Amino acid sequence: MRLYFDWNSTTPPIAAARAAAEAAWANAWGNPASVHAEGRAARALLEESRRVVAELCGARPDGVVWTSGGTEASNLALSSPFEDGKGALVLAPLEHASVTACADQLAQRGVKVRFAGVTRTGHVDVESVARCLGEGDVRLVAIQAVNGETGVVQPFAEIAALAQPRGAVVHVDAVQGVGRIPPPAGGWVGVADTVALAAHKIGGLRGIGALVLRPGHPLRPLLRGGSQERGLRPGTQDAALTAAFAAAARVAFDSVGTYEAVRPLRDRFEAALAGLGAWVNGANPRVAHVVHVSFPGWSSPELVAALDLDGLACSGGAACHAGVTEPSATLKAMFGEPADAGRLLGPVRFSLPPHTTGADVDCAVEIVRKVLARQR
Ligand SMILES: Cc1ncc(COP(=O)(O)O)c(C=O)c1O
Repeated sequence: MRLYFDWNSTTPPIAAARAAAEAAWANAWGNPASVHAEGRAARALLEESRRVVAELCGARPDGVVWTSGGTEASNLALSSPFEDGKGALVLAPLEHASVTACADQLAQRGVKVRFAGVTRTGHVDVESVARCLGEGDVRLVAIQAVNGETGVVQPFAEIAALAQPRGAVVHVDAVQGVGRIPPPAGGWVGVADTVALAAHKIGGLRGIGALVLRPGHPLRPLLRGGSQERGLRPGTQDAALTAAFAAAARVAFDSVGTYEAVRPLRDRFEAALAGLGAWVNGANPRVAHVVHVSFPGWSSPELVAALDLDGLACSGGAACHAGVTEPSATLKAMFGEPADAGRLLGPVRFSLPPHTTGADVDCAVEIVRKVLARQR
């Protein structure tokens, strides 16, 4: 028996998403830009999927731009206001690499990049964002909804409320938030100007995501080419991927409570890991299904590999950094001081499935116990 406790890295496609894709591959496989019947069938499905995702996010259908995933959505959002290489960008160092790497590139082009502080609990410090805004000229503030490693829920609505009246665009990376926390009052685009989503984190397929826009938000394309997606994201779209995304999104928006039900089991698992010597990283408010711990004295890649061999899938940090030996930027931002160096070396993230049972947790604890005893 295997336990897949790596739900933040990717989720298995749910039945409704697979069925939607299968139906589209059979009946709506045409090029949505073609004028013939095959093209029109694909176009109709693409637009219906767009309508569904828009409605769930509180956006207008023309406010959904299909992308290849969350990374591309954030790249698109961040590049748009800085084409002239001027102005300032505010973000925290614990943002996903799709945001921090954009910031690095923008800095090289002359944009002023200001980093907000992060507390030891893993939350972006709102007062420090206010100070960055106070320095002026801020065109965009990027803030994640939920940290992919620790599961910490960020004060994104509070930060948006500070930034927007000062004329800054607010980009929310909601890749780990959608389906795991309730949408903010007024919907995701009720708080943000641009929102990044990825289908594969919510039971859809890989290779599809969206940048969702507040009505009227002016966006400039990152790619050059045809007029698909109103010229904002040229390239032939895949109606099957969008249909699977819409099907998964419907379920995800309805099933935040399913994740919430895992909270007591997650807490039990976390307490058991602490009993085995792990240090817990991140504090509430946190999503219900994530346990992020450091095993002082252990190397994270070795531990993750050993747990995998014994049947427990987890990860050493963000999946996009798997195999990278650099300490996690999230942990560095939380525990920069040398006294905490032990935390940086052996982090392990367990992200539990929404259908986790008590028996799964007992079994996972047993595997961790065995692996620690053997490796020691
Ligand atoms: C917070 C966050 N943002 C963005 C991404 C990137 O999404 P994608 O893999 O779809 O490009 C991830 C993926 O792990 C993530 O956790």
